[in-house]
Amino acid sequence: MTDVQVWWGRADQASAAHVELFNEIERDRHARFRVASARDQFTVGCAIVRLVLADMTGIAPEKLELDRECTRCAGPHGKPRLVGSDLRFSVSHSGDRIGVAFATGVELGLDVERAEGRDRDGVADAVLTPAELAGWRALPEPQREAAFYTYWTRKESVVKATGDGLNAPMDELHVSAPGEPPRLLTYPGGLALDATMTDLDPGPGYAAALTVLGPLGTLTVHDAGPLLAG
Ligand SMILES: CC(C)(COP(=O)(O)OP(=O)(O)OC[C@H]1O[C@@H](n2cnc3c(N)ncnc32)[C@H](O)[C@@H]1OP(=O)(O)O)[C@@H](O)C(=O)NCCC(=O)NCCS
Repeated sequence: MTDVQVWWGRADQASAAHVELFNEIERDRHARFRVASARDQFTVGCAIVRLVLADMTGIAPEKLELDRECTRCAGPHGKPRLVGSDLRFSVSHSGDRIGVAFATGVELGLDVERAEGRDRDGVADAVLTPAELAGWRALPEPQREAAFYTYWTRKESVVKATGDGLNAPMDELHVSAPGEPPRLLTYPGGLALDATMTDLDPGPGYAAALTVLGPLGTLTVHDAGPLLAG
């Protein structure tokens, strides 16, 4: 059983002091953002990662060796990991919300989405399996919006846990229906995964899900505000 901590922050909690904690790659990415809101999301995500890992390891946040190498192209934008450690974490941001989930010894994936503003019907066509799509379309219209984001975050949490990201064909990834307990039913390629899925509540207007590749022990949820204000 693996205990998981989920920490939530807000984009407006980003500060210049956080950038002081970053390594060269993170500073370079930070400097390249043209849109302030995306820069703030990145800043808060990196800062939560470094501040919580520092607390867990006793290593100063700026001294933690984080690797972000993409497994596809070796660029500095892949799933981040703490070098030489069995601590695992997953970062997600959408709108004003930034979440980071932490565990020891098992891979995990977190996804948060602001529950509005997508081409919902178009994305549903592309990412739901035929059976999911039929069930989703049969829902009364007022329920479809929330159900879509539940499907989407459940699926994305799984592909973030495996590290496949959106390279995994989402329309071959089958999860339980939004009205049912969250569960992975089929992973693309028939890959057998011991996945534990949980819906999270990141606040009004947002949906989120967490997938742990193993049995989940205790899940604790934390406000990153005081840590970020440091
Ligand atoms: C990972 C992915 C699913 C994230 O989707 P998203 O909804 O846009 O973004 P989220 O906010 O939920 O997650 C972003 C975070 O996921 C993490 N991440 C990046 N790649 C990841 C991967 N392959 N698996 C899991 N997490 C990943 C990063 O921490 C990133 O945040 P950061 O860069 O600010 O630290 C999507 O970006 C993806 O599929 N990326 C891989 C695509 C790829 O391989 N492209 C080839 C590049 S050469």
